[in-house]
Amino acid sequence: MPAIVLIGAQWGDEGKGKATDLLGDQVDYVVRFQGGNNAGHTVVVGDKNFALHLLPSGILTPGVTPVIGNGVVVDLEVLMEELDGLAAQGVDISKLKISSNAHVITPYHVTVDKVGERFLGKKAIGTTGRGIGPTYIDKIGRLGIRIQDLFDPSILTQKVEGALVQKNDLLVKVYNRAAVRVEEVVEHLLSFGERLKPMVTDTSLILNQALDEGKTVLLEGGQGTLLDIDHGTYPFVTSSNASAGGATVGSGIGPTRITGVIGILKAYTTRVGSGPFPTELFDEWGEFLRSNGGEFGVTTGRERRCGWFDAPIAKYATRINGLTDFFLTKLDVLTGLDQIPVCVAYEIDGQRVEELPANQSDFHHAKPIYENFPGWHEDITGCTTFEELPKNAQDYVLALERMSGTRISAIGVGQDRNATIVRYPLTGA
Ligand code: GDP
Ligand code: IMO
Ligand code: MG
Repeated sequence: MPAIVLIGAQWGDEGKGKATDLLGDQVDYVVRFQGGNNAGHTVVVGDKNFALHLLPSGILTPGVTPVIGNGVVVDLEVLMEELDGLAAQGVDISKLKISSNAHVITPYHVTVDKVGERFLGKKAIGTTGRGIGPTYIDKIGRLGIRIQDLFDPSILTQKVEGALVQKNDLLVKVYNRAAVRVEEVVEHLLSFGERLKPMVTDTSLILNQALDEGKTVLLEGGQGTLLDIDHGTYPFVTSSNASAGGATVGSGIGPTRITGVIGILKAYTTRVGSGPFPTELFDEWGEFLRSNGGEFGVTTGRERRCGWFDAPIAKYATRINGLTDFFLTKLDVLTGLDQIPVCVAYEIDGQRVEELPANQSDFHHAKPIYENFPGWHEDITGCTTFEELPKNAQDYVLALERMSGTRISAIGVGQDRNATIVRYPLTGA
């Protein structure tokens, strides 16, 4: 009766969508537990390419019940568009369940996100502009609108009125924007009610009952450990708990029911938006990783910043998430390099530091200390076992495993679901 958590070990875009899809056949439920449509999870199945933002990647596997948990923030327009898009591609969307406690992203949250970033100027976080931060601010400030409010127009109106008092002050007096009218927001939100109603339920109850019956639940994270609001590179983070701890709070499944925590780990490092990134490359090697790895955002189309593998980050992900397995992705992207540098520690103010520094300013001026590993030139995309990989590729994986502190149970050698080497069963059992 396991619940398994799958999260990003770095700054997002590690390949969580592909890993979730791969596990789809072994699980009964796939749950998103935090974040919203700031995520962009690409799943390639044969000649079909899916980009999921809000829906769990498990929706693509027949038989799986996809769930949007209470910890997610939901943009209803995006939800409907995504559902329609998938239905048009022949995906069964009828089983989707949405928590009545999930919070709603309204158009004013999107406006505040975008205008707020513009006002920050050079200090901007580089958000996805999807209203994520402002919606979580309202949730914590107890001014949020929840999915369940959409089915009671009178309560909805009261809540929107309450939220807009502050929001309109901010929009008009600080941001020099037009005020938002209560009726226009209420009307917009109510327009989704009828279609939404059959999907809305007590998802915590359903998931716990499923676990009682011996079913398997996969909790699919958005973003990554270093974008976590508590454990990431604050303030250059997202506004939710993207690390494993968020999975229990964001789904209503207790921590004792979780038997495995899989960290998705890219064989190099990328990040989108602002913030410190010690191994970032500004030369032709950064360009090599970006073009070979197709490192362009699925949500915003932005170029991803690219750099070498950072072992202290992987070790930190092991610690923060209590990982049982790593799924190492995109090893194939490194093919063709003579030498592969790996950051094994940092130099901070003349000192060698092995752990991620607890002080953010230290991390900003951490210089990577590199060790070089010999590369390989053979095409590895067709390898199906660890032993088939060139010796240098095997050694690279084993070195990463040793430095990261968690066994590498699966290795991605290409975009397709099948381009995966499984070394140990990934169910965390
Ligand atoms: P996510 O946000 O963690 O789901 O990751 P994204 O979908 O944003 O970015 C990962 C990209 O890498 C996607 O385009 C995947 O199809 C692709 N990908 C995943 N695993 C592999 C792999 O092992 N090799 C290659 N070449 N591409 C992969
Ligand atoms: P997936 O699930 C990579 C980044 C943004 C920005 C910061 C805050 O595809 O891995 P937000 O809009 O969340 O307030 O932006 O977080 N960010 C991501 N980076 N992958 C993601 O999701 C991200 N979701 C948010 O670029 O730096
Ligand atoms: Mg992504």
